[in-house]
Amino acid sequence: MSIVLEKKQNITSIAKKKGKEKIVMITAYDTLFAKLFDKKVDIILVGDSLSMSFGGDEDTLQIGLDEMIYHTNAVCKGATHPLIICDMPFGTYVDEKEALKNAMKVYQKTKAHAVKIEGGEAKAHIIKHLTDNGIAVMAHIGLLPQSVRGEGGYRVKGKSEDEAKQLLKDAKAAQKAGAFCVVVEGVKSEVATKITKALDIPTIGIGAGNGTDGQVLVWSDAFGFFEDFKPKFVKRYLNGGELIKNALDEYVKEVKDGSFPSEKHSY
Ligand code: KIV
Repeated sequence: MSIVLEKKQNITSIAKKKGKEKIVMITAYDTLFAKLFDKKVDIILVGDSLSMSFGGDEDTLQIGLDEMIYHTNAVCKGATHPLIICDMPFGTYVDEKEALKNAMKVYQKTKAHAVKIEGGEAKAHIIKHLTDNGIAVMAHIGLLPQSVRGEGGYRVKGKSEDEAKQLLKDAKAAQKAGAFCVVVEGVKSEVATKITKALDIPTIGIGAGNGTDGQVLVWSDAFGFFEDFKPKFVKRYLNGGELIKNALDEYVKEVKDGSFPSEKHSY
């Protein structure tokens, strides 16, 4: 079955899916893959995961706003129907003024529908300032990749009662501040489900079980192109790396033995 989603998404159509239809989000970073994902998914996230999966960085902290804008523009050129979200990189939303200046730059320089920022209760004032000024915000709670150095590593959240309570507070604070949607990353399934039930806005899970309103995966993880490591929550839908390497072997072999280009591929 080939999926073709004919409806163009916006933040209202995404919000309306809560409780009715699961929301599918995937990352993309360029026009080529945005075109492949167009009319297939509800949301494309131009995630700062770009810096790890494609930039070779150890974490997501080194990528800057101009790079995110470049890649968001590339995605906007390829995808006409999904909601497109630009991840605000580390250090670009430290206070209200800075956050608004940078989020406005994203809106002015790209056609992204919304921005994503990491943080719940602690970032509620920023979410409110952005939404008060016409910027649509997706919040991101739980395991926050931009906090990896500050926290000394990645850790699943919601294992203790205190942590579970704080996560619920984070989600509710983000909703109250005006976020239209919340990513819940690396959170115990039962806690993510409880958060989902407590909110009016949709939750998108990654490593947060099956009880959220939608799911997101980094495309190079989902399709097996990123082979350095595979977290437990990733399901590989394709062995992309292997397919590419096999095809490349064939190309190399044919160039070396002179069978490519043949008559068919010559003028
Ligand atoms: O950067 C990213 O791709 C993300 C998702 C994993 C949610 O933030």
